[in-house]
Amino acid sequence: MSTRAPAKTRKPRAARPAAPASRRAGAAAKTLRTGRKGSAVVARPQADAAHDAERVIAISGSQSGLGLAIRQRLDAAGVRTIGIDLPGKGADVEADLSRAAGREQAVQGVLERCDGRLDGLVANAGVDAKDAKLTFGVNFHGVVDLLEGLRPALAAGAPSAAVVTVSHAVMVTPGVRSAAADALLDGRDGRAALLAGRTPSAAYAVSKLAVARWIRAHAANAQWAGAGISLNGVCPGAIVTPLLERDLADKLKGPLIRAMPKPLGEIAEPEDLAGIFEFLLSRDARFVVGQLLVSDGGVESQWRQADWPQPWDISLARFLFKLFAQR
Ligand SMILES: NC(=O)c1ccc[n+]([C@@H]2O[C@H](COP(=O)([O-])OP(=O)(O)OC[C@H]3O[C@@H](n4cnc5c(N)ncnc54)[C@H](O)[C@@H]3O)[C@@H](O)[C@H]2O)c1
Repeated sequence: MSTRAPAKTRKPRAARPAAPASRRAGAAAKTLRTGRKGSAVVARPQADAAHDAERVIAISGSQSGLGLAIRQRLDAAGVRTIGIDLPGKGADVEADLSRAAGREQAVQGVLERCDGRLDGLVANAGVDAKDAKLTFGVNFHGVVDLLEGLRPALAAGAPSAAVVTVSHAVMVTPGVRSAAADALLDGRDGRAALLAGRTPSAAYAVSKLAVARWIRAHAANAQWAGAGISLNGVCPGAIVTPLLERDLADKLKGPLIRAMPKPLGEIAEPEDLAGIFEFLLSRDARFVVGQLLVSDGGVESQWRQADWPQPWDISLARFLFKLFAQR
């Protein structure tokens, strides 16, 4: 049972004032802004404090480490948070995200508490387990099923945001097998586990690569950006949490983590990163879509300096086809 206070009844959203004259653009500008001829200009969000006070945001992995810091940060900002975590951890919604039935339970539990309308979702719960099935269940299916199950509620709350806790493991783990992530994206978990290999945290890196690709593949779609939901990922480096403590205690992983460069001279505490999530959940970040925000104190930029950004290797003909024929 949850030890947290029962959810308050949601206040109706304040009516938006009419757009100022400068925003009542002509037909040409309207088409440019919406990308569709003759369609209405997309409603612009208001940035007033009263509007913020009634925001409702769900967070998985809310009872420990980074998720706890994000929840506390949002609570302090007056957001009503709905925490999701394993049974017995004291979250509002208790569910085991490693199992399909648990994921369904999590979605239903959140929907009941938010009246079918969410302003934000943080899909944050994650594990770095030896058992690839468990790692894939929480880090990939536990994210994707939550995103898909709560997408209609996010669309009802649009403009809204979904932020996934990925990891810089996607960029700085050597030899992560792309084919393993593809297999996971195809729902072939057994094959993904086989292809991932047995090096320390291989399944973890594969699960995070798959989820990063899922974000990139879906964020700009009609169902996400087109429905007013800004979907992004955050890729932290090492953060002092129980997950890191467990990895540090591992004979193989511990020395590798300790040897990682620290361009900032220190390892992040969960509170150091919570504000990044708060920003990505805010209306100020609405135009950030489909991005993986690396927040690892400089490890990725130090090691992969010239690998990004990559110029777009595309012929002019293919580009023009994309621009005019493929919407
Ligand atoms: N700590 C790091 O160094 C680090 C680095 C990069 C990314 N991350 C990512 O940050 C996220 C949060 O991790 P953390 O470091 O705060 O770890 P943590 O262990 O402190 O917290 C993880 C939370 O997820 C919950 N959880 C685990 N399995 C679950 C399940 N089956 N169902 C529901 N909830 C479950 C746990 O109960 C816990 O509350 C994870 O996605 C992790 O991969 C962590």
